[in-house]
Amino acid sequence: MSLPDKGRSTEDLLAEITRLKRDDLPVRGGKVTAYVYDTGRPEVHEAAARAYFEMLEVNTLDPTAFPSVVEMEKQVVGAVAELLGGGSGIFTSGGTESVMLAVKAARDARETVGRPRMAVPVTAHPAFHKAAHYLGLVVDAVPVDPVTFRASPTGIEAAITEDTVLVVASAPSYPQGVIDPVAEIAGIAAARGVPCHVDACVGGWLLPWLREAGADVPPFDLSVPGVTSLSCDLHKFGYAPKGASVVLFADPAMRRRAYFASASWPGYTVINATVQSSKSAGPLGGAWATFQALGREGYLELGRTTLAAARELREGIAKIPGLRVLGDPESTLVAFGSDGGGDGDGVDVFVLSDEARKRGWFLQPQLSYAGIPANIHITVTGVTLRGVEAMLEVIAEAAEAARERGPAELPEGLVELVAGLDLDALDDAAFGELAAAVGVDLGGSGQPEMAVVNAVLDALPADRREAILIRFLSVIYS
Ligand SMILES: Cc1ncc(COP(=O)(O)O)c(C=O)c1O
Repeated sequence: MSLPDKGRSTEDLLAEITRLKRDDLPVRGGKVTAYVYDTGRPEVHEAAARAYFEMLEVNTLDPTAFPSVVEMEKQVVGAVAELLGGGSGIFTSGGTESVMLAVKAARDARETVGRPRMAVPVTAHPAFHKAAHYLGLVVDAVPVDPVTFRASPTGIEAAITEDTVLVVASAPSYPQGVIDPVAEIAGIAAARGVPCHVDACVGGWLLPWLREAGADVPPFDLSVPGVTSLSCDLHKFGYAPKGASVVLFADPAMRRRAYFASASWPGYTVINATVQSSKSAGPLGGAWATFQALGREGYLELGRTTLAAARELREGIAKIPGLRVLGDPESTLVAFGSDGGGDGDGVDVFVLSDEARKRGWFLQPQLSYAGIPANIHITVTGVTLRGVEAMLEVIAEAAEAARERGPAELPEGLVELVAGLDLDALDDAAFGELAAAVGVDLGGSGQPEMAVVNAVLDALPADRREAILIRFLSVIYS
């Protein structure tokens, strides 16, 4: 990429963007079962896109200069608080930023003797590890029940120390879509005088509609005694364009702990509710318009179809030889793994994922961790019901093909080689060449075969996986 000498026409640019996106996964249509959320109602996404564009150049940096931001944010955050048990909130750029602010508020609310700590179930999103990394906390990881995948309240209780500033529960946790026992965990936290954050990033704007549509959803929001903050992403089941989440605090004083102000320089005064300072109001406009375009009725209808699709999917997967659904999710997130293959029916889920990709579907592979086997994750959204039979057919076909192919074949000694690599002694080019030498193309193509990469990563401990992934990122951006 180089800066052109002369400016180019809009048509020319748009044509190039189309070309650049040629190998992207489709964001609409339901064949990509993670990352994207489709209502199946193009007019809603159109309204959001136009509102986003309308707010694009507005800078949320100074709310006194752009009062539209304050009004829109109050409406959006107010709607989230109304649905999720009240509180005062902040509109953020996503789940990670919402979590970051909740962790910052908890850290700043209490002096500790040692480094501040957080008790976090192993199924909680890495956003908590990232927040700990950025904000100087220690994570005390707590195992989950190996059958239900829900966090164990006694495990959380045992992890609380005098330096614990926050306890975490997920509603639901992403990997298996199950809701942690929020009331019990929050009760334990309250009894020990520790704040409790509910990560409802993926479920906050889904579970209430599922409940209204007849699903059995336990209480999980700010109305539960002991829950002190909650995150809810609007760019997930709110169906808003990316860059939209809300963090709510039960106590307005805690929200102030998330804020940042600086007058320690000779420039303009800085008041930030979020990590970012200057930022576009586009995502806020997009989220606001999505709420307005769908309304209660729209979300409830989406809740009904999503619930029906998830039920059909779970029942269908259970009938496919060699596969089993993990846990009993209350949400519409479904994970399935191999049934172990004792009868010869077992399938390698990483090969299954590649086989589905060849057939035009993206099914998200998840590595084994903390005793939870490798599996495939599907986020069922509003558009899934229309294609659930086709999805089940593809899963069955891909499972059959994976069974025939057998597990990903790793060149002998590859795992040991990767485990023992001195990454500091390798530059990005050498790493890329090494990967190519064992048949892994890091050049980026439309339909990568990932089974070997996933199998190697799966065989490594988490800290080694992380080092390799960072190098991988560096290589693809070289
Ligand atoms: C439960 C949960 N928390 C946090 C996040 C992080 O959200 P984001 O990717 O918007 O930062 C996710 C994303 O999938 C999630 O599922």
